Amino acid sequence: MSDGAAATADVVIESFLDGDGALAELGREVREGLTRPLRELPPKLFYDDRGSELFERITALPEYYLTRCEREILNRRAPEIVALSGARELVELGSGVASKTRALLFAMAGAGTLRRYVPMDVSGWTVRRCADELAEAYPGLAVHGIVGDFRLHLGRIPAGGRRLVAFLGSTIGNLQPPERARFLAAIAALLDDDDRFLLGVDLVKDVGVLEAAYDDELGVTAEFNRNALLVVNRLLGADFDPRSFAHVAFFDPAQEWIEMRLRSLRPRRVSIPGARLELELAAGEAIRTEVSAKFTPARVERELAAAGMALEELFTDERGWFGLALARRA
Ligand code: AVJ
Repeated sequence: MSDGAAATADVVIESFLDGDGALAELGREVREGLTRPLRELPPKLFYDDRGSELFERITALPEYYLTRCEREILNRRAPEIVALSGARELVELGSGVASKTRALLFAMAGAGTLRRYVPMDVSGWTVRRCADELAEAYPGLAVHGIVGDFRLHLGRIPAGGRRLVAFLGSTIGNLQPPERARFLAAIAALLDDDDRFLLGVDLVKDVGVLEAAYDDELGVTAEFNRNALLVVNRLLGADFDPRSFAHVAFFDPAQEWIEMRLRSLRPRRVSIPGARLELELAAGEAIRTEVSAKFTPARVERELAAAGMALEELFTDERGWFGLALARRA
């Protein structure tokens, strides 16, 4: 079902999100996560307006190398990526403000192959803004925006010819292994023979570098982490006191991921009406708010292969800290 479709000359936006259903679903998800042996909240809770702004600030911190590394790779290698993929359409999952995508679109325009841009994001405002801006920057470019969740609505991506499906920013790191495997298999199912998949992955590196990126000197990441509790308060009517939680971030070498947690400094009773939950937290008890997986090149190749894709090339920055994997259907 497509509601709220709006069209101008070459911009089409379709929305597949349903606000009320999504809130009830969030309540179930929060209840399910917080009643596990290791209590957990979904990382999507970070990104309300304040959280998105905090994340923007994180990307500019000296410790947070991910965004800069990925931009470096795109700025240097976009023409090559575009030439290798032969792309005419750019499909971007979790497009955000699309600041990095511009290097890809610019290279496609330069190669004379750019026909259509398909941004997908859960934020309708973001999709609309980015669709309008790009339609204006590239006259003749068709933009088909999709307001949806990349875990649910991949099937809504329009069929096309020679698509480059981009999932950048290490967003895949937030998916835990079973969900990641399902997601990659769904991508493989979406790809035609002449489509390509471009995946941004953060690479395993020195633990000090990894941990500093998630526990910065200024405390912006700590604020971003605590913001998840404010979002639960607002959306589900909870009474968390974010100031009574300490920010924790550490690398788990067995899982090869960074974990962020919020540790309750005092014993606490928290009520979360929207999740039909009364939570009893012991002093020192922690809630996991995010995992951020770090990959070795071998693991990128292995997981793509397990999902039915073949790695064509892994582009990295100078230090080998971040990778952009270009893959096709096997
Ligand atoms: C947006 C999911 C890629 O995991 O590095 C930044 C989010 N968390 N600082 C990441 C995040 C803490 C980020 N991703």
